Amino acid sequence: MYDWLNALPKAELHLHLEGSLEPELLFALAERNKIALPWPDVGALRGAYAFNNLQEFLDLYYRGADVLRSEQDFYDLTWAYLLKCQAQNVIHTEPFFDPQTHTERGIPFEVVLRGIKQALVDGEKQLGISHALILSFLRHLSEEQAFDTLQQALPFRDAFVAVGLDSSELGHPPSKFQRVFAKARSEGLLCVAHAGEEGPPEYIWQALDLLKVQRIDHGVRAIEDERLMQRIIDEQIPLTVCPLSNIKLRVFADMRQHNILEMLERGVKVTVNSDDPAYFGGYVSENFAALHEGLGMTQEQAGRLAQNSLEARLA
Ligand code: ADE
Ligand code: ZN
Repeated sequence: MYDWLNALPKAELHLHLEGSLEPELLFALAERNKIALPWPDVGALRGAYAFNNLQEFLDLYYRGADVLRSEQDFYDLTWAYLLKCQAQNVIHTEPFFDPQTHTERGIPFEVVLRGIKQALVDGEKQLGISHALILSFLRHLSEEQAFDTLQQALPFRDAFVAVGLDSSELGHPPSKFQRVFAKARSEGLLCVAHAGEEGPPEYIWQALDLLKVQRIDHGVRAIEDERLMQRIIDEQIPLTVCPLSNIKLRVFADMRQHNILEMLERGVKVTVNSDDPAYFGGYVSENFAALHEGLGMTQEQAGRLAQNSLEARLA
């Protein structure tokens, strides 16, 4: 790893806590909770991390998340991620959590939130890493289920700053959640959404116009629509781009095809993030390193990308 990349102060703005569950911790939690796993060992599980698209990844991601049962499990998951942040000079993080991944399995909302939030608060005190938590709705589930989740979350309103939208993009446009996001905004919450990862530029337009998001998560397909590009540049709407994720999920054939530096040079406020680092081969610094190796990103460009991440914070 490059010391100069670790040395850059940076913020991470696109990170699914459930996607930071490393195979070693997954096995340890399975043992703690007496859960039988379909993989004989850590190596076999890692060997299963080969995906042709987003859905193939999500199927494994939801399966892995099943080992998370107690408040302590969620604390340990979050703390392990914060230690990675510390090692890579991530001074601020805005992680997502997917409550429905857990409440659908009978884990109470407050068990999930308390474990995560306590670790984040301890991370501020002990590691000096600030945070803003984002509650993300699963878009393959119904609008009604999203409303139900928001209702469960409102008693804990102060624990998070924004709502997001993730999971299977194709066939689940932002318009499906227009009313839930309006309700969240009426409660003073900010909004972000995954759009333009596998889905078309139209989904990015909808995220902006219907969900009124502050940032677009991924957004790499914006480049297919010149009018959209102009808007994103003019309004300086941040894109939280995840290079290693995009290669692992075959959004681009290889890193040399990735458009993040082209976007950067055109004036788009792009940032570098890890998405699901346990599954995609690395945390923020590994994503920067992959851009250096695959795309020839310079130190000056890395500095601008890191600066963008600090400026694109919600809190
Ligand atoms: N959930 C976790 N990672 C995701 C991604 N890259 N896209 C959509 N949903 C996700
Ligand atoms: Zn994501």
